[in-house]
Amino acid sequence: MRKKFIAGNWKMYTSSITAEMLASSVVKLLGDETRLQVAVCPPFPFLARVASVVKGTAVALGAQNCYPKDEGAFTGEVSPTMLLDVGCQYVILGHSERRQKMAETDAFINEKVHAALKAGLKVILCIGETLDERKANRTEAVLDTQLVGSLAKIAAEQLKNITIAYEPVWAIGTGVNATPQQAQDAHAFVRQRVGGLCGAESAKELIIQYGGSVKPDNAATLLGQADVDGALVGGASLKAEDFLAIVRAGIC
Ligand code: 13P
Repeated sequence: MRKKFIAGNWKMYTSSITAEMLASSVVKLLGDETRLQVAVCPPFPFLARVASVVKGTAVALGAQNCYPKDEGAFTGEVSPTMLLDVGCQYVILGHSERRQKMAETDAFINEKVHAALKAGLKVILCIGETLDERKANRTEAVLDTQLVGSLAKIAAEQLKNITIAYEPVWAIGTGVNATPQQAQDAHAFVRQRVGGLCGAESAKELIIQYGGSVKPDNAATLLGQADVDGALVGGASLKAEDFLAIVRAGIC
């Protein structure tokens, strides 16, 4: 039985004060709920502050990126071991905003996946097609390429520390979410393809989140799909009440 996993990607929003307030509200509203996994992913500068708020609670901490080395002369970068040190359990990798704006390739993302897992972090690996790719009927081909590239040399037993977030680029920040059927079709494809890459048994246990304009009013139908095991929430994760409404929609 896969446990639903709802994560908030705060992107480049909040300040030290509002990050702390948001985390405190999420902790308070979530209480000791353990039927699903919940994580918040603040910007780097606020990780330590949010870590002290969520420590010992049901809310896990994640970062939004890392560099694939333990340490070194990599000005401006942050290592997986630093993220662990500051209290992170998760790191988001391969987000489409990084793929598009920072020209991250599947090969580079694959290096990060290996480095993060080696350090002891759990990975939320984002994949997803653009609108042009969907219109050209290339959705599955694009997801296939991203999975093959970013999961290269990942063994079956490592999969338990990886969550895939299917985030169609056209649904991110647009208010146009994928229909529940579109999400289900993509998730079923991802599970089958990861099964081919890493073994069908471990793919059955793989958590696949949907991301892209998840809101309180569409969360229940999206999360009700057989292969939708959670959500990676952007905008709506910046309001504790909205985020918790999405979390509640995931409790069955
Ligand atoms: P929105 O929920 O704002 O569409 O963002 C989704 C996302 O990119 C989460 O990583």
